[in-house]
Amino acid sequence: MNHPFSKIPMHPIRTFALLLASAAGLIAGPSFTIDATRSAGEVSPRLYGLMTEEINHSYDGGLYAELIQNRAFRDNSDTPVHWSVVADDPSVATIALDSADPLNDQLPTSLRLTVAQASMQKPAGVANAGYWGIPVHPLTRYRASLWARAEAGFSGPLTVSIVSDDGRQVFAAKTLSGLTPKWTKFEVTLETGKVAPTAKARFQITQDRPGTVWLNLVSLFPPTWKDRPNGLRKDLMQMMVDLRPKFLRFPGGNYVEGPSIAVRFPWKEMLGPIESRPGHDGSWGYRSSDGMGLLEFLQWTEDMGAEAVLGVFAGYALNGTHVTPGPDLEPFVQEALDEIEYVIGDTTTPWGARRAKDGHPAPFKLNYVEIGNEDAFDKLKSYDGRYAQFHDAIKAKYPQLKLISTIPETIHNGRKPDMGDWHDYSSTENFLKKSVGYGKDLDRKGPEVFVGEWAAHEDTAVPPWNEASKKMAPTPSMKAAIGDAVFMAAMERNSDIIKMHCYAPMLVNVNPGAWQWRPNLIGYDALTSFGSPSYYAFGMFSRNVGDEILAVTSSGSPVQGCATRDSKTGDIFLKLVNPEATPQALPIQLKGVSALKSKIMVTTLSAKPDDTNSIDQPKNVAPVVTTLSGSAPSFTYTLPPTSVVVLTLRPR
Ligand code: AHR
Repeated sequence: MNHPFSKIPMHPIRTFALLLASAAGLIAGPSFTIDATRSAGEVSPRLYGLMTEEINHSYDGGLYAELIQNRAFRDNSDTPVHWSVVADDPSVATIALDSADPLNDQLPTSLRLTVAQASMQKPAGVANAGYWGIPVHPLTRYRASLWARAEAGFSGPLTVSIVSDDGRQVFAAKTLSGLTPKWTKFEVTLETGKVAPTAKARFQITQDRPGTVWLNLVSLFPPTWKDRPNGLRKDLMQMMVDLRPKFLRFPGGNYVEGPSIAVRFPWKEMLGPIESRPGHDGSWGYRSSDGMGLLEFLQWTEDMGAEAVLGVFAGYALNGTHVTPGPDLEPFVQEALDEIEYVIGDTTTPWGARRAKDGHPAPFKLNYVEIGNEDAFDKLKSYDGRYAQFHDAIKAKYPQLKLISTIPETIHNGRKPDMGDWHDYSSTENFLKKSVGYGKDLDRKGPEVFVGEWAAHEDTAVPPWNEASKKMAPTPSMKAAIGDAVFMAAMERNSDIIKMHCYAPMLVNVNPGAWQWRPNLIGYDALTSFGSPSYYAFGMFSRNVGDEILAVTSSGSPVQGCATRDSKTGDIFLKLVNPEATPQALPIQLKGVSALKSKIMVTTLSAKPDDTNSIDQPKNVAPVVTTLSGSAPSFTYTLPPTSVVVLTLRPR
């Protein structure tokens, strides 16, 4: 498993001599001063969080650990996509979608497999190639399950197996029998031996004699985070936990809006057993299985030690249509109230009781609810009325909740939102420019600020979603990480009013054809995952933050930075970003500190601007921890070229 931060190499104490400044204020040229005499404001306790939506196969083919693609045969209404016949002679077996005698109302189409000829030596059946392969790990137990019925007179057996993609090597196999004309659920455990890890594998269901069977909800799970049956991929969870996020904004992004009002985020249909979830058309060109439902989002949030920032559908969809405020909008407002009740209602309420029935009696942690997503795109400008209606209803029932408007700095029909969500995708060059002096014009008396989506792009001439972007890597380079870091420093300096922020998008399946947007924080294929330079920069910031803002002033240097202090330990976290291709010697002065009591811990992320990480080179760019000796509160530190550095200082 990947533990990117816990595996940061701790170099044998490399001792750099501190170049002592002769006296504070006498140094000509560049300077960087931290005022530790007083706190300049409170750092928001929720400053660093994560944002998620179904894009780039974030869930199906990503975090959601299900390995079978199109497990319920609803991805295409004409043909069983991602399934193929397995047989020496393909003419002996056929597969087709069949809506006769369905499993249930939610999964009305099953796969009919008709085998005309098969034997022990020449079995025939059906295979699924997974999400760009089935990951085979050594000595690993997989949970396979399926619903099946058979023509009268055929009871099996069926062999369920994970095999190499050419079918020659069997990694794990089990048989099941006892099929009848009635739908029955079968479950087996498949266990691999000491095999080399590979994703060049497929999942198969075969039979050794002629017969017709119908299949539905065919599922295969590897071990999951906390062993949850409908659970999440362990490596990706570990990577997110390592970022120590304080909140998770879900379910989007565009995903909450949906392609149309009818196909908005259908949270009520995403509860309960997975065989009762119909799935829906997502916002990024592919269907969602909805194995990741509201409970799974909440459980994921809780497992990270974070709190939910719940986005509710607010009557505007991606096709530009909206629901007219007033009576037409009422059912949608009620839907949001029900959703909130599912999250925090006690078990005497209908939706709180439903949550308990689903396995989580305790309410989840929720302080913020976001009304919609990017409603400034609504050309008919209906958000004022829509926001106001949601605001009144939610505040009446849940006065303790803070509400987020998606059009910042706007009063909607007299209702002042508690917070405004700003989205900021820009080039590294732009972030370098605007981060200097950032925040002076933020209205300290206005709503709190949530930067609910942001990312630095290497080149804004290439829009993140278009064909030209497909020629670039799906994850960012060090150049982008520099833009990210200066913007994070700017947000941290202003975290008295910028209460939360989160990079977007977070996850990407890097296989060609799997992603719609770049750049993204964390990349993966079926088998492995990696953090981008931006991931490491984010983690260096989110893991090293105090609760007091310390004012910083600098001059004569391209280096940007910020400082916070932990009021309990007194530790000061100084973050510095060198955007230049040359080292930068920076005289640093800690005002109000007489001496340091121990060595300075230095975490450094440095690489050439175009350097990046990938499946093959997951740690090409990764932080390194060293220490600096010396106890003077004024010293010169030389930042490596294009680097992000965190100095942890312990004042005496
Ligand atoms: O993060 C990708 C998309 O960018 C989000 O879905 C949307 O909110 C924004 O426009």
